[in-house]
Amino acid sequence: MNRSLIPVLLVGCMELFVPCLGVAPKRTTCLVENGRADCSHLGLREIPSDLPRNITSLDVAHNQLKTPTLATLALFPALRHLDVGYNSITSLDAGLCKNLPFLQNLSIQHNVVYILQEKDLKLCSNLTHLNLADNKLKLKGEPFVALQRLTWLDVSKNGLASVRLGNQPQMENLVTLAFSGNNITTLGKDDFSFLKNSSLQVLKLLNLPSLQKIESGCFKPISGLRALLLDNSKLTPQVTSMLCDELSGTALRNLSLQNTQQHSLTNTTFTGLRSTNLTRLDLGRNNMAHIENGSFQGLTHLDSLSLELNNLKALNNGTFQGLENLRWLNLWSAVKGNVENYSFEPLRKLEYLNMGKTSMKDFKEFTFSGLHSLKFLDLSQSTSVIKTITDRTFISLAGTPLKTLNLTYMALQRLNPGAFSHLGNLTTLLLARNFISQTLSGLEFEGLHQVEEIDFFLNSQKISLTPESFIHVPTLKVLLLGRALNGTLNLEPSPFRPLVNLTWLDLSNNNIANINEGLLEGLSHLKVLTLQHNNLARLWKDANPGGPVLFLKGLHSLTNLQMDSNGLDELPRDAFQGLTNLSQLSLSGNLLDKLHESVFDDLKSLRVLQMEKNLVTSVPKQVFQSALANLSELRMERNPFDCTCESILWFVEWLNSTNTSVPGLQGDYICNTPPAYYKDSVMAFEPLSCKDMSPFQALYVLSSTAVLTLLFTAFLVHFQGWRIQFYWSILVNRTLGFREDAVVEGRYEYDGYIIHAPTDAGWVERQLLPLENEHFSFFHEDRDAEPGRSQLETIVENMRRSRKIIFVVTEKLLEDPWCRQFKAHHAMHQLMEDSRDSLVLVLLQEVQDHQLSQALLLRRSMLKPRCVLHWPLQRERIPAFHQQLRLALATSNRVSGSRWLG
Ligand SMILES: *[C@@H]1O[C@H](CO)[C@@H](O)[C@H](O)[C@H]1NC(C)=O
Ligand SMILES: *[C@@H]1O[C@H](CO)[C@@H](O)[C@H](O)[C@H]1NC(C)=O
Ligand SMILES: *[C@@H]1O[C@H](CO)[C@@H](O)[C@H](O)[C@H]1NC(C)=O
Ligand SMILES: *[C@@H]1O[C@H](CO)[C@@H](O)[C@H](O)[C@H]1NC(C)=O
Ligand SMILES: *[C@@H]1O[C@H](CO)[C@@H](O)[C@H](O)[C@H]1NC(C)=O
Ligand SMILES: *[C@@H]1O[C@H](CO)[C@@H](O)[C@H](O)[C@H]1NC(C)=O
Ligand SMILES: *[C@@H]1O[C@H](CO)[C@@H](O)[C@H](O)[C@H]1NC(C)=O
Ligand SMILES: *[C@@H]1O[C@H](CO)[C@@H](O)[C@H](O)[C@H]1NC(C)=O
Repeated sequence: MNRSLIPVLLVGCMELFVPCLGVAPKRTTCLVENGRADCSHLGLREIPSDLPRNITSLDVAHNQLKTPTLATLALFPALRHLDVGYNSITSLDAGLCKNLPFLQNLSIQHNVVYILQEKDLKLCSNLTHLNLADNKLKLKGEPFVALQRLTWLDVSKNGLASVRLGNQPQMENLVTLAFSGNNITTLGKDDFSFLKNSSLQVLKLLNLPSLQKIESGCFKPISGLRALLLDNSKLTPQVTSMLCDELSGTALRNLSLQNTQQHSLTNTTFTGLRSTNLTRLDLGRNNMAHIENGSFQGLTHLDSLSLELNNLKALNNGTFQGLENLRWLNLWSAVKGNVENYSFEPLRKLEYLNMGKTSMKDFKEFTFSGLHSLKFLDLSQSTSVIKTITDRTFISLAGTPLKTLNLTYMALQRLNPGAFSHLGNLTTLLLARNFISQTLSGLEFEGLHQVEEIDFFLNSQKISLTPESFIHVPTLKVLLLGRALNGTLNLEPSPFRPLVNLTWLDLSNNNIANINEGLLEGLSHLKVLTLQHNNLARLWKDANPGGPVLFLKGLHSLTNLQMDSNGLDELPRDAFQGLTNLSQLSLSGNLLDKLHESVFDDLKSLRVLQMEKNLVTSVPKQVFQSALANLSELRMERNPFDCTCESILWFVEWLNSTNTSVPGLQGDYICNTPPAYYKDSVMAFEPLSCKDMSPFQALYVLSSTAVLTLLFTAFLVHFQGWRIQFYWSILVNRTLGFREDAVVEGRYEYDGYIIHAPTDAGWVERQLLPLENEHFSFFHEDRDAEPGRSQLETIVENMRRSRKIIFVVTEKLLEDPWCRQFKAHHAMHQLMEDSRDSLVLVLLQEVQDHQLSQALLLRRSMLKPRCVLHWPLQRERIPAFHQQLRLALATSNRVSGSRWLG
């Protein structure tokens, strides 16, 4: 590879990666808020002068200041707090306090201040806190003498060789003095005499590696001392003894000697402390192997003792002798040996005993005798011979008011009947992380009358339940069985039936595949149910024999439900019915895609929904609207979203407008389909691309409406066209005034207008037209219609000119659409318009009355009898028929009666 390319590539990479690593852009200006200016970490060489004049607090720590510019500080006379720590300041100027008269709190920590003399702090009498730790102080004269109001002074880590900070009494109000990490070998007799008028209570002498001598009377000037901390200092047994002797008679309450090389305690080590009112003693991290009997004798006020992280070979009935008021004892990882019977016998007031991580060679029956006040016992992570808890194991705790017993991580394998029968006041029993492998018959918990929590989390997954497992503990509120059960829970009745007070049930990580609908029945107080990492998919399938198993039915109080990683690919429509208090639902890591529209409808209180890592392609409003309505956090990342308008438009609009926290929104919500959006962020989906559809949609609606209208019109014209034509012609006739008001009989041109079916034309020619020889005249369309005129016009015109209209009725006529519809209608209209009795029916065939009325809108009864003629079958009656016809044609058209009105 070409060497010259490497720098180019490096620069390229850095340019690429720096923004990607998400390094917050470095602040370049001070942050000013509530009168406080934070100018730390800005690489400043000068204090900025453009800050508000009235700031009361200024932080310029972690910069490159050499000396604070007094002229600049003078701009902020109201300052009460000034932090110039972690700079390169070499000296303090008297002008500082002159310019800042109200300064109370000054930190010059971690600089290189060297000479400190009286004039430097002379005007700082208003200071209450002064931090000079981690400099190179060389004190000259009485530098602190002016600090009358100082309560807190830190001169740690300055290489000082003596605690003597002055010769004359001063700092009357000093409460806390930190002197840690200096190079002190001796606490001299008069070293603290400069504090003899002070109110010193807390003295920190931590990290003094070369302290060798404590002179008699050294604490006399500060006998009001209440707390002395010497952690990490090197104290030989002689120095410790000396120290305690010197502390005798002081007001000391709290002594911390962590990691001070106390390898053993003798019955004289703490003799001096007997004449104090010491309440707290910390002897942790001392690699201590031996405590002589009676070592604590006389510490009658001791309330709290820590021996954690030591290496004690044995405890016996003499170890804690004299600690009659001890209430708190920490032996965490302190004992690597024997705990004899009656070791704790003197501790009658002990309430808290932490014996976690103890290595007991064996476990004795009367170990805990005498602990009459014990409320808390932690034996977790202890290694002992106990593998089975029998009804004798805790017999020495009988009669104690023990509330919490921590037996976590103890390699326990079995609980025998009555294992806890002596612990009637126990509320919390922690058995997590063991190897308990058995069928719980229920007798194991006998006697636990007040138990509220049992934790079996992470056992060997070999615990089996029976319907009786919990019958003795109806007070239980929390039952944790995660990664503990062997997977069979299809019991009848349910083992949880007695647990009416249960609020939290953990059944996670158990590979449970089969449960029944009654498993959680009656658990009306249940709030938290965790079922993740089981195998419940089959139970919620529609195809499950007998339908989906709705085991959440009736859990009205449920607020938190976790069903992640169960292989679920379906949610029954009523899966979450009635869960109106549910605020957190977790379904991540399943195979869910399409959901029933109403599945989330009852989840009115939902605040957190987790559905990440499923197969969700679309997020439709109908399904998710109620679930997302009040959410504070949504987790739906890593689903194969389908970024189309139908699938994702509503969701993207919701994401754009919501205040809900959606972690990973920028990187983990990725489109899988369609190809155009593949691997794009869901947020890159353009909602407007769906809006652009709307003109096309309108066009589509418009054009389809037009086509439909056209179709409708065509059908209307096809089937009802005659009717339209009919009314049109009437309208035209009326408006054009064809209607004569006075009807004159004589105006008629024809005696009859013949209507007949084409097939009956022969009959008409043979039987009717011959009547024209007897001065009757007929209008016969086939013969008289004027060529060129429209059929419609011809009919209308000539019917008006005919005195009678003759229907030659046969079935064919009734079937002829033109004839029976338009002509009949017009005839009827004419009839009514002119009030003429002008119809003659000639029935060539017998026709049913209803056929007549349907086809020609006529009834026989509407006509005068003589106008209804029947064509006779017998030849000899034909002349009679002709005679009747002549009569009918001759009758007047005057209406005789009110037949039309009926
Ligand atoms: C400082 O002065 C500004 C106006 O100059 C004022 O708005 C602000 O409240 C003052 N702050 C304090 C702490 O007095
Ligand atoms: C100390 O503060 C008070 C107001 O609290 C002020 O009057 C006095 O001048 C200050 N003292 C010094 C020495 O600056
Ligand atoms: C501590 O003081 C002793 C003498 O008292 C001296 O020899 C030693 O160098 C000092 N150590 C430091 C780190 O100052
Ligand atoms: C210890 O406390 C008692 C009363 O509480 C008090 O009288 C006694 O002076 C105290 N002892 C010391 C050394 O402070
Ligand atoms: C301390 O122990 C020694 C034996 O190791 C014994 O002789 C002495 O009496 C004990 N002192 C007290 C005060 O118990
Ligand atoms: C402590 O136990 C020993 C035997 O181990 C016994 O002789 C002694 O009397 C016990 N002391 C007390 C105070 O119970
Ligand atoms: C019980 O012990 C375990 C393991 O040491 C610890 O993590 C847990 O906090 C303890 N529980 C209580 C209530 O002390
Ligand atoms: C257990 O608690 C009850 C009250 O809750 C109390 O009366 C009883 O004394 C306690 N038992 C023990 C052994 O302290």
